[in-house]
Amino acid sequence: MGIRLRAFAALAMAATLAATTACSDTRDDNSDSGSDSNLIGIVMPTRSLERWNNDGAHLEDLLKTAGYTTTLQYADNKVDQQITQLQNMINQNPKVLVVASIDGTALGPVLAKAASQKIKVIAYDRLINKTPDVDYYATFDNYQVGKLQGEFIVKQLGLDAGKGPFNLEPFAGSSDDNNAKFFFSGAWDVLKPYVDSGKLVIPSGKKLASNEDWKNVSIDGWLSQKAQSEMDNRINSFYTGGKKVDVVLSPNDSLALGIEQSLESKGYKVGPGWPVITGQDADLANTKNILAGKQSMTVWKDTRTLGDQVAKMVDQIVKGQTVETNDTKTYDNEVKVVPAYLLPPVVVIKDDVKAKLVDSGFYTADKLGL
Ligand code: BGC
Repeated sequence: MGIRLRAFAALAMAATLAATTACSDTRDDNSDSGSDSNLIGIVMPTRSLERWNNDGAHLEDLLKTAGYTTTLQYADNKVDQQITQLQNMINQNPKVLVVASIDGTALGPVLAKAASQKIKVIAYDRLINKTPDVDYYATFDNYQVGKLQGEFIVKQLGLDAGKGPFNLEPFAGSSDDNNAKFFFSGAWDVLKPYVDSGKLVIPSGKKLASNEDWKNVSIDGWLSQKAQSEMDNRINSFYTGGKKVDVVLSPNDSLALGIEQSLESKGYKVGPGWPVITGQDADLANTKNILAGKQSMTVWKDTRTLGDQVAKMVDQIVKGQTVETNDTKTYDNEVKVVPAYLLPPVVVIKDDVKAKLVDSGFYTADKLGL
């Protein structure tokens, strides 16, 4: 039996057990959760980004195969809609809620309701802030994502060998997403020394004296369109008289798409003069762009492994077991440090798209036109 199948079998047994407990009159006092159903609620931010569709479908599949009942809702990036969805789920008294939040600070009241019903909450990918009512967090190492992007830029430009100066345009993710701060910090800790020494110059003059200034370059909602118009503005205003963009720090693929479109519309051509551009998620369009030389790298987070981990945590909660975590220091949500399980992100470049994304089954060669 393969590892995944074995995991399914173990989960299936646990779910059957949970269902049996749920049907009996007496509550399993060893169980961590106070609800009586076999239901797991999952909320995801939006269908408009490829990764969340994959995340939701995979997690739901795993839990269903294991015998759980699931309800999965997407909220079109609207905070109120996500709160209503959570409220409706709480009314059904699920065992566990898995929450990929939109605004990490907006869920306190609704999660207090969940806590009052002893429903456990796992923050999925994004931390939920300013509430005691989040029990666990599962994510990729967000700081490491940014660090990998920064290190890639250093290596690609030969900054360590003293090359430069280069024109850099930095971007950060949505200001309401707790991850965005970590991505930027990881990258800026690597890049700032080169900005300070003058090897990286920021012609648009964005003020980034410290990591705390990341909101000066954030793109709300992680929207490609907004990134595109921001890049258009920077090029129009600051890249006159033959000045060229050499490198763009883009925190993820949706921003990278917009930035790439802007560069093309401003006359940049893929090839030697095309800037170094970072990304994250290995979205299909971006992976194709990497193969076409339009994006330099992406930080791949194999969301299947995140789903596997979260399904395992759900199961451990339902069984009243110790829930596996590997970081109990990093994710302070301003009320408590949330015990987390961090997975490792991986850099993908043109040369290893096949080895990493195809051979692992993340994409078929066909889908990528390989
Ligand atoms: C996720 C990224 C994603 C971004 C936009 C972040 O919280 O960690 O993988 O690209 O949201 O949806």
